[in-house]
Amino acid sequence: MRIGIVSETQKNETRVALAPVDVSRFTGLGKNISIIIEKNAGDKAQFSDAEYKKAGASISTTKQAWQADVVLKINLPTVKEVSELKKGSLLVCLTQGGTAEKILKALAKQQVNVISLERIPRTSRAQAMDVLSSQANIAGYRSVLEAAHYYGRFLPLMMTAAGSAKPARFAVLGAGVAGLQAIATAKRLGAVVEAYDVRPEVAEQIESLGAKFMDLGIAETASGEGGYAKELSAAGKKKQQQALQDKLKTFDIVVTTAQIPGRAAPVLVTEATVKGMRQGSVIVDLAAGSGGNCPLSEADKVVTKHGVIIVGHTNYAAMLPADASTFFGRNLANLMKIIALEGKVNLNIEDDIINAALLVADGKVRHQGK
Ligand code: NAI
Repeated sequence: MRIGIVSETQKNETRVALAPVDVSRFTGLGKNISIIIEKNAGDKAQFSDAEYKKAGASISTTKQAWQADVVLKINLPTVKEVSELKKGSLLVCLTQGGTAEKILKALAKQQVNVISLERIPRTSRAQAMDVLSSQANIAGYRSVLEAAHYYGRFLPLMMTAAGSAKPARFAVLGAGVAGLQAIATAKRLGAVVEAYDVRPEVAEQIESLGAKFMDLGIAETASGEGGYAKELSAAGKKKQQQALQDKLKTFDIVVTTAQIPGRAAPVLVTEATVKGMRQGSVIVDLAAGSGGNCPLSEADKVVTKHGVIIVGHTNYAAMLPADASTFFGRNLANLMKIIALEGKVNLNIEDDIINAALLVADGKVRHQGK
């Protein structure tokens, strides 16, 4: 069985689906399993062809890599790239939440089976395969470095002969995977951190990281299925926005990470809230690619509105490409343990993980939506 790794062609993408260090995790799954890497596929992630070769992979042409039995990728291929895939092959990648209908149909027509990485269920067994978590963790870390970069002051308390500076007041809105990592990173840099989430059960996790849980005093909570949040009622949203408008006046940096599966990101930081913040404050909106937690953020741009710097990058993991690719590839190696059985692809839909994640099979798109 040949497993192919191809270059990512999407704008702003620097990652690759496998790092050299993990080649042996795949070849170790069976005697007849080989890894072929498209020439220079790891370049932007800081991995050379020589490193892949040393790890046991072969370097191939673009065509050879696309013609593999299994193709591992970060993002969905383009329609043109779909035509490079071999009939009956398996493609494993992120699928844009199932919204790219045209590409999914092209994959079905090409008789390619597709494992959608966003569809992997959030169960204990699947945790080691969950790329959303591994990449969100990186996004949370990187978002704090971005905030520090644009903030014109220190994060920690600084006492020098030239005078002292107060520590930055740092708010994190949404304390899921990315938010918790943002809290931990901001604490390590010496900021004073408070965090808020609609799921009250995360208060304990926030406090265990040494941050304060921000109590907005709104009665409504929104814990949903599988650890995710539900949407608040219209009245709840309004109360939340008003309470944040009052609170955030006293903060220097706000990192927002709030998402609701299958819906536009909730608006937490309104224009009125931005107007109330001090000049030079920074907002990093991790939801800028899905509507934004702040309506003033612009996807893939850094803008200044009412004196506040608003960062709207949409692919933070790609800003840390070596580690992001390593974690991604390791998640895929764990996934392949249940797919590559005795050196062959085995898509057993009796397995709950495969049943949920197998998005295209036998010429048909099996699931609609996310
Ligand atoms: P996410 O990216 O969908 O959302 C981020 C955070 O935003 C969540 O904590 C959510 O509660 C919060 N949020 C949504 N609407 C909000 C609002 N209006 N105001 C404030 N906060 C709001 O979620 P993520 O980070 O991917 O995961 C959430 C949870 O899922 C984790 O904390 C964990 O409990 C669970 N999980 C379980 C896994 C497993 O068992 N395999 C793997 C990963 C996560």
